[in-house]
Amino acid sequence: MRIVFSIVVAVSLTFVLRSSLRHHPYRYYLGAGAISLLLGFWTVPSATTWLDTYILDLFRRGTLATALWCIVMFAGALPNGKLKRIWMPLRGTLSILAAILTLCHTITYIRIYASPVARPSLPMSGLQIVAIHLSVFLLLIMIPLTILSFPTIRSKISPKRWIAIQRLAYVFYLLLYVHIMLLLMPSATTGHLDAQISIFTYSLIYLSYFVLRIKKAVASRHGRSGCAASLLES
Ligand code: HEM
Repeated sequence: MRIVFSIVVAVSLTFVLRSSLRHHPYRYYLGAGAISLLLGFWTVPSATTWLDTYILDLFRRGTLATALWCIVMFAGALPNGKLKRIWMPLRGTLSILAAILTLCHTITYIRIYASPVARPSLPMSGLQIVAIHLSVFLLLIMIPLTILSFPTIRSKISPKRWIAIQRLAYVFYLLLYVHIMLLLMPSATTGHLDAQISIFTYSLIYLSYFVLRIKKAVASRHGRSGCAASLLES
């Protein structure tokens, strides 16, 4: 359910803030960094359930970051049109923002699993252990791709080499889907409606992306599309 709400928030932000996101990205990077450190390292005392579920958890559970990743994915796969025109120029900024916000999620769970107090009360199933190990690869891909998204760094690398490195984004998207499925499936199979809605929503997003991406590849093969941009930019 959180992912549905996160997508509504993320898409709305790209419409409302698109001009300042393009012209003042560093303000958003600093803001996201502050939020990630604050919510990652500090537990808000007596936060109401509403505040927890619809605000704080969007950051701590990684869903707002993942909603931004989804926009980064779709902008490249969408056919030419209004949505693509709005999202394409924002892709570098959104992927850097998503990475900074993902740090909140990572810090939150590393603190939980590393803490000698919390960990014993959280027996990890085999699936969870696999998902957590997978997340290490997610981070190992996310960090270099994010660094390469900064225009100053990108300008130092040949466009051909930059696009080749960005192909790792496909591995990232796939591992992210597996990470989420492995972690949400146990509660979904025991009838947890929230997890079932989330699994359905993530699968629908990935399936639609897959179809759009294939359509684009077929169209470009038939020479109708032709734009060569990076994967995180494609
Ligand atoms: C690039 C890095 C990562 C991304 C984008 C990411 C994203 C996500 C997303 C979207 C979910 C599902 C949340 C939901 O819909 O409720 C999730 C769940 C989870 N992630 Fe990650 N994750 C990342 C790295 C990590 C790392 C490094 C850890 C652990 C140290 C971790 C631990 C977890 C856990 C425990 C859950 C299950 C939470 C629950 O039960 O709701 N993740 N992650």
